[in-house]
Amino acid sequence: MKREIRYIDSSTLDTLFSYIVESSRDGLFRVWREKTNMKEENFKFDIRMYRDLGDSFNEETIESSIFHSVQEQAATRLCRNHRIVNVNGQFPGPTIEVQNGDSLEVKVTNAVKYNVTIHWHGLRQMRNPWADGPEFVTQCPIRPGASYTYKFTITDQEGTLWWHAHSRWLRATVYGALVIKPKSGSSYPFPTPTIEFPVVLGEWWDRKVISVLRQALFSGAAPNISDAITINGQPGDLLRCSSQGTTKLTVNKGDTVLLRVINAALNQQLFFSVANHKLTIVATDAVYTKQFTTNVIMVGPGQTTDVLLTADQQPGRYYMAARAYATARNAPFDNTTATAILEYKSANSQPILPQLPAFNDTNTVTAFSNQIKSPGKVNVPTKIDENLFFTIGLGFFNCSPGPRCQGPNNTRFGASMNNVSFVLPNRVSLLQAYTQKIPNVYTPDFPRVPPVQFDYTGNVPRGLWQPVKGTKLYKLKFGSSVQIILQDTSIFSTEDHPVHLHGYHFYVVGQGFGNFNPSSDTANFNLVDPPQRNTIDVPVGGWAAIRFVADNPGVWLMHCHIDTHLAWGFGMAFIVENGVGESETLLPPPSDLPKC
Ligand code: C2O
Repeated sequence: MKREIRYIDSSTLDTLFSYIVESSRDGLFRVWREKTNMKEENFKFDIRMYRDLGDSFNEETIESSIFHSVQEQAATRLCRNHRIVNVNGQFPGPTIEVQNGDSLEVKVTNAVKYNVTIHWHGLRQMRNPWADGPEFVTQCPIRPGASYTYKFTITDQEGTLWWHAHSRWLRATVYGALVIKPKSGSSYPFPTPTIEFPVVLGEWWDRKVISVLRQALFSGAAPNISDAITINGQPGDLLRCSSQGTTKLTVNKGDTVLLRVINAALNQQLFFSVANHKLTIVATDAVYTKQFTTNVIMVGPGQTTDVLLTADQQPGRYYMAARAYATARNAPFDNTTATAILEYKSANSQPILPQLPAFNDTNTVTAFSNQIKSPGKVNVPTKIDENLFFTIGLGFFNCSPGPRCQGPNNTRFGASMNNVSFVLPNRVSLLQAYTQKIPNVYTPDFPRVPPVQFDYTGNVPRGLWQPVKGTKLYKLKFGSSVQIILQDTSIFSTEDHPVHLHGYHFYVVGQGFGNFNPSSDTANFNLVDPPQRNTIDVPVGGWAAIRFVADNPGVWLMHCHIDTHLAWGFGMAFIVENGVGESETLLPPPSDLPKC
């Protein structure tokens, strides 16, 4: 079967191209551009989804839903055109909607000139780090022209996650929602919404993002801040030349709306609020929570928050708005406000803006995050086998003054965990080095505590500002119970950091300000109903305590989800060893795993 579709290519001016879509026997659609060559800035996703329907193993494809969506021109923002890297010509990329229990095959073809990988943020990928995606951690990147098929099964997870590029700064425009619905026959633990709507928050640069990073890594200085916060790829009415594209959500009075809020921004924590409407929190990071109501939420990069809203106000138009929560002292940030419109059917009044907290309103953040809890009693590990303490934050490398030494006072910016500034390998992935016992790629000696103890959030002597570069991993026995205290430092400035652990969900048993105090703070841990997350926004100038059981073998990255900090070395990785028997052992590598 051949058919032709008209399709807007998002990386050029409003030009329409013809694509030939052929559905072949294996159920996959193949797409060619007629006459022109495939645009260099496009990736291609072929998605096959298998759903286990009792005894019949049924195959369906959601490819068609990816290609039928002809979107507005995606690359004109703030009055200017940019060529952006995207997936299937869509920005944000396609929402992938699946059910708990589904198995997916996503073939990623790299049609750009950069190396790329795709990460399925928050998916546990049990025994299957091969499908996790961070470049040089679990795989070598997909080279230009090459492809790799991510194969994985969703096991006991439902809610909102997302996918993004995990190679350099490509995730600035390569991201999309991953929505996991309950299995057929089961339902949400809250009233079934009339409307479900992903709200994907991002950042837009009015220049080429890859060169922003390249310039920063060359000069050693901080990268340029973004020029607009976006909601579903659009800055909205308050920004120049942006009204036309503003994201809109039309509702009927009385509708229950489930907003799936995802912070896909590269570098910025964000407040989010809807004018005149209360938000009921029902889940974070694809784990259901105790329900509570609030006017405003704060979402760190990497985190997701599901909120219910009832359209019970005077029929009209209301802004949904997102703006920075910024805590680093004297650091510039993008202070724009992104808006989308919640509009009651046939209302055409001027939209009302919600009141957003001040940029540095930590009290609001603390009050909000303290309310996030599991719905009831959960099974928190209490006997701890691995008691780890990691300092987290920025640092500086001294250098000789010159073009490559443009950080504060003749330095280059760095970042570290326990004073180790993480360096990725470049000839093989850590996972391959581990499984194939390739020497000289990493050392398994990541320190369990910082090399020196100091007043972490006090006045830190300059002598402690310089981290040490290394590729250090920490080994965990299968099944061990792990506690990590993540302690912010005031080196350069205190700051809240969204720390993400791949392959796991962890319990957040405690959070506080200042230096962690083992005797008094441990006594106050919540071991009853702490929330479960994959990304914790560690309080500014404070600490967070997390616990998990190392039940997923593999190599798993832990890092700050602020991409600038990751690029500066804010990361480390765990090796979780195999346990006993097949169910506790790594799967073999797929045959098409990219080569370096
Ligand atoms: Cu969402 Cu390591 O990433």
